[in-house]
Formats: sequence, C-alpha cells, structure tokens
Amino acid sequence: MVKICCIGAGYVGGATMAVIALKCPSIEVAVVDISVSRITAWNSDQLPIYEPGLDEVVKQRRGKNLFFSTDVEKHVAEADIVFVSVNTPTKTQGLGAGKAADLTYWESAARMIADVSKSDKIVVEKSTVPVKTAEAIEKILTHNSKGIKYQILSNPEFLAEGTAMEDLFKPDRVLIGGRETPDGHRAIKALKDVYAYWVPEDRIITTNLWSAELSKLAANAFLAQRISSVNAMSALCEATGADVSQVSHAVGKDTRIGPKFLNASVGFGGSCFQKDILNLVYICQCNGLPEVADYWKQVIKINDYQKNRFVNRVVSSMFNTVSGKKIAILGFAFKKDTGDTRETPAMDVCKGLLGDKANVSIYDPQVTEDQIQRDLSMNKFDWHHPVHLRPPSPTSVKQVSVVWDAYEATKDAHGLCILTEWDEFKTLDYQRIYNNMQKPAFVFDGRNIVNVEKLREIGYIVYSIGKPLDPWLKDMPAVA
Ligand code: NAI
Repeated sequence: MVKICCIGAGYVGGATMAVIALKCPSIEVAVVDISVSRITAWNSDQLPIYEPGLDEVVKQRRGKNLFFSTDVEKHVAEADIVFVSVNTPTKTQGLGAGKAADLTYWESAARMIADVSKSDKIVVEKSTVPVKTAEAIEKILTHNSKGIKYQILSNPEFLAEGTAMEDLFKPDRVLIGGRETPDGHRAIKALKDVYAYWVPEDRIITTNLWSAELSKLAANAFLAQRISSVNAMSALCEATGADVSQVSHAVGKDTRIGPKFLNASVGFGGSCFQKDILNLVYICQCNGLPEVADYWKQVIKINDYQKNRFVNRVVSSMFNTVSGKKIAILGFAFKKDTGDTRETPAMDVCKGLLGDKANVSIYDPQVTEDQIQRDLSMNKFDWHHPVHLRPPSPTSVKQVSVVWDAYEATKDAHGLCILTEWDEFKTLDYQRIYNNMQKPAFVFDGRNIVNVEKLREIGYIVYSIGKPLDPWLKDMPAVA
C-alpha cells in the first residue's frame, strides 16, 4: 500500500489530503501538524476550517485511510510520498522583510524529513514557494541524506477557498514539476498515478521544477491583476457616470478576455494573492528586473487604493466624520463561504473607520469574535499603507462589537458597509433595517450585491462600487 504523509494540516493540506483519501481508497494518507489544537479539531466533529462539502468527505474516510496526527516523525518516516503544505507567509523581519517569502517552516520541515527518513522518498512542494526553492530543499535533504535518495517535485495547489472541494474534484489542471532525469521522471509518474485515480490525463501537466514553481506565482499574479484592473476601472466609472457591471459584461464577452474574475469590489484578500505578488516582486528585484517588479507591485498598490477609497467614501459621505457614529459591518471573511480572514479587506476598512473613531458593529456568519478582535489588534507589515490604514491603538479596538445577527449589527447604525458577498446579505429585510437605523441611513456596498434602486426607494443613500453615484455623493470626492 502506498503511504502518503502531508506535513501541514491547514486549508490546503487538510482539504487536498481528504480528497486524495476519498478518491484513492488503496492509499493510506496521514496529515500531520505541530499544532495540537488543529489536529484535535480535525479528529473532532468541529473541523478547524469551514469549507462547503469538506465535513462529509472527512467523515467518510477518517479512521479508514485518512488519519490526522501530531506524530509527525513517525508518519514521515513511514511515507513513500511526503507532501509539504506548511505556511509560507511574507517575512516580517530581516532581509526582504515585507516582500520575501518566509521559508522558516519549510526549512524546518525539510530538516525533519532528513532526520527521520530511513527509506527513499518523494518530497512534494505543495506550499506556494519562491522559484528555485526546490534547489534549496534538495541541498538540505542531500547534505543530510545518510545514503537515502530524495526526489523533489513541485505540485502547487490551485484550489480556491470557498470552492475548494469542487476545485479538487474537478481541477482545471494538476501541475507537476520535476527533475529532467530518469529518477525525476519516475517520481513524476508516481505522483501522476495518484492524481490519475480521478483526474483525466490531459489535465495533468508536467514541467520542469522551475516552471511549476513560477506558474503558481504567475497564476495568482494574473488573477489578482484582473481584480485590480476592474477595480481601477470602477474608480473611473464613478468619475464618468459609467457602470462598472456593464463595462465588465461588455469586456468579458470578448472570448480572449472571458467573463470570470471581473467583479469590482472593495479589494482582494486571502492568504495568497498579496503575499505571492510581494514574493514575485522580490524575486524580480533580486534578478535585476526592477521594471518587471514595479509592474506587479502596482497590482497591490491599486488594491490598497481601492480599500482606502472605500473608507474615504464612507467618511466623506457622512459629513466628513464617522467619529462616535455606529457603522455596521456585514461580512468580515475575505470572501463568502469561508471563515478565513487572512488579508481580508474588511480588516483595513475597519481599521480605517476606527482610525476616524467610529463605533463598529460587525456580523459575519462564519468568523468568531475572538478572530475579529485578534485581527483588528494585530500589527500588519507596513508597505505603502496610508497612515489611517496603519494599526490603531489598542484602545480603539474597544470600539468594536461583534454580534451574531445582521439586524442586531445594523440597529441604530448611521451607516452599513457590506464587505463580504455572503448570499444571506442579498435577501435581508432592508426595509426593517432602514426602520431601525439613524437617518439619513447610508449603505456602502463593497461587493455590489444589493439592488441599488430598491434601496434608494426605501430611502437609503447608497454607494455601490463603480456605479453611477447617488446625487448625495456627487460633490464628495473620495480620492485618497
Ligand atoms: P495554513 O496556515 O492553514 O496551514 C499550514 C499548517 O502548517 C499550519 O497548521 C501549521 O501549524 C503547519 N506547520 C507549519 N510548520 C510545520 C512543521 N514544521 N511541521 C508540521 N506542521 C507545520 O496554510 P494554508 O492556507 O493551508 O497554506 C499552505 C500553503 O499552501 C501556503 O504556502 C499557501 O500559500 C499555499 N496555498 C494556499 C491556498 C489557500 O487557499 N489557503 C491555495 C493554494 C496554495
């Protein structure tokens, strides 16, 4: 029986391994982590992450051919294939701080593999890593090899949170990069055989190691670039009276462009886009390509500009101050169908409003109060952030309340901001909400999900990103 071990029981490790266990009943899969609480949660009824469809798959395979354990060394020693899916955040200190990927977790995983291995292994990079990481990993492994042979493969993950299970069941492509040697080809084939249980062969792409590593960074950069492109357009739409949804629709009809990822919003978030682009920028700089670095940096600058613009819209519409006013925040996760708040635009918007001394009341169906409070008091690395987006003082976090109901959050509020596109926000009783808000009542829709006309009929002053401006807002420019 082939044995797989995955180091890192996070969003990627947990979900991908659950699907491998489901689709390959003859393979034994162990997911290991140094975090005891994470592993305890994976072994309980309350999984550590929310992802539609994940619970059922875990319940079906757990204890059969899917195991979650903190005994990292035992499972690594026994495995034929070791996936490494540990976190690779942006460095916060030292050389490359604020840009380069922090490979501390990766390096310690590689050293541990070298320490405990007693048989040949295929080591698979599942984490998103800088191009050429495999070379460094290879050095760590081979310098400590005790005669054991390692083959390093790059198999970046393209799943998106919120649709992870669908993405894993029917991936657009599976990418496997390896060494162009006979041993490298054998390793690629072994991993290909795993995916071949359920992925059609023409969707499994094999490349050299560096192409696979770089393709993941490139894919995230292209995706984020589309969002920044449409968000840049949204500012111009507001200035000219064009409607960004109509522009996106018209542009997306071109088959060379396509309709996906063209929704204007308050900005992109999530654990990957920003960190991967920063990492790409850093790699370009290190390779003497400042023009290329600046090109990609702009994608992040526009994202920051969009969040900043949104905050300025809120403040300028409400007589240039939100001090002492209650602002309801609907949605804190970085997108719908996930409880993940890493780099969520809601964090920056809330910090901006708190910086202007607003009282913020937050409701998100999947994010806990503890998580929100931690996010709002956390220090983020400081890269081209305008002053009001910098972390507020600890006292201002007291201006935050977290509630478990949209109606409670909006009661007596002066304004409400929609920051995550949860389906339930489309069908709220906006008349009831209006009746219980202070007047004039403002809606700032950061995801373009409300029916603007209907809300205006009720009496709201409505701001919707990239849409023709409410007469109230026309003389109140919100450029940062
Ligand atoms: P995560 O933070 O949810 O999980 C990583 C896990 O690794 C944590 O539970 C941590 O305790 C564990 N870990 C760290 N060092 C360890 C060690 N030495 N031994 C054992 N366990 C260790 O991260 P997530 O979101 O699963 O991401 C993992 C990687 O996948 C990152 O490189 C990310 O960029 C990439 N990725 C993430 C996607 C996402 O949507 N979250 C999508 C595609 C790629």
